Amino acid sequence: MSGDMANSSAGKVLLTGDRPSGKLHLGHYVGSLQNRVLLQHQYSSYIMIADVQALTDNFERPDLIRESIYEVASDYLSVGIDPNIAVIYIQSQVPEITELTIYYMNLVTLARLERNPTVKAELAQKGMTTSIPVGFLCYPINQAADITAFEAEIVPAGDDQQPMIEQTNEIVRSFNRTYNVSLLKECQALIGKAGRLPGIDGKGKASKSLNNAIYLSDAQNVVEEKVMAMYTDPDHLKVTDPGKVAGNVVFSYLQAFHDDKEELRDLENHYARGGLGDVTLKGILLKDLEALLGPIRAKRAQISKDFVLDVLRTGSKKAQTKAAETLARVRSAIGIDYFA
Ligand code: TRP
Repeated sequence: MSGDMANSSAGKVLLTGDRPSGKLHLGHYVGSLQNRVLLQHQYSSYIMIADVQALTDNFERPDLIRESIYEVASDYLSVGIDPNIAVIYIQSQVPEITELTIYYMNLVTLARLERNPTVKAELAQKGMTTSIPVGFLCYPINQAADITAFEAEIVPAGDDQQPMIEQTNEIVRSFNRTYNVSLLKECQALIGKAGRLPGIDGKGKASKSLNNAIYLSDAQNVVEEKVMAMYTDPDHLKVTDPGKVAGNVVFSYLQAFHDDKEELRDLENHYARGGLGDVTLKGILLKDLEALLGPIRAKRAQISKDFVLDVLRTGSKKAQTKAAETLARVRSAIGIDYFA
């Protein structure tokens, strides 16, 4: 099916994206990528590399963002997002989104921005609680523009994105009420089946900044090292000791990646009883992960840099056409279409 056919299909619009501040990992896969691959056949899909948003907390590191755009796009293509079906594009190449952001800013209070729990958690994590950059605080408004510019109704994402969806819908209602139109569409989040995947150290969710993630592009020996280093139950000293399943990272990953759920229940019971060793368990997980990552790695090896750039160039043009249509309607709703 051609991209144009997908765009004109009667289906609703799906939109999602990632900040290009590093390669994508298994947490992204279970939280969102897996859904996107399935849903691209059902919805008109826009997949955005959010470099403008990435700049809000990495503005001094544009090189990282530039490199990561290529990595993230390669991750998309390797997991099976099809550029002939989905529109893959770079946020900064669609400046219409930025203009929408400015208009939406009038509809949001500072107090509301400061209440966003995901933003709060990020500020705390980055130690930015006293001197908050305005750009960062406003990124949820920019994200509302990302979503509404494409009339998206479905947003596959990790559960930390729920507050962004809520804020988007508040902006949508406020805009429609203020300008007395029914122009902007509300959206809903589609949270991945496993929610958050913990980091291999068990200290929090898998993330680049904590250096505890398994990347989609990791070589087989790297995956093996990471699995063998995974946090289990520190009190499970001898194989015969009873072990804890809750909080055990290997089980969290098996719950996300082991397809035979009955067998998984047996493994959990066996571990809890005692008699199932960590190394055996990790071997099972490793096999599951290789079954997933092997084909992704193989596909990645076939993708050239020129092809990736071509996909992004074409996608960004298509995205810009769509966003420009929305922007024209927004300007007209506000009444600033002076020469129309
Ligand atoms: N905030 C998302 C993240 O940190 C990235 C993102 C930007 C996004 N714009 C979006 C996700 C629009 C969904 C829809 O991962």
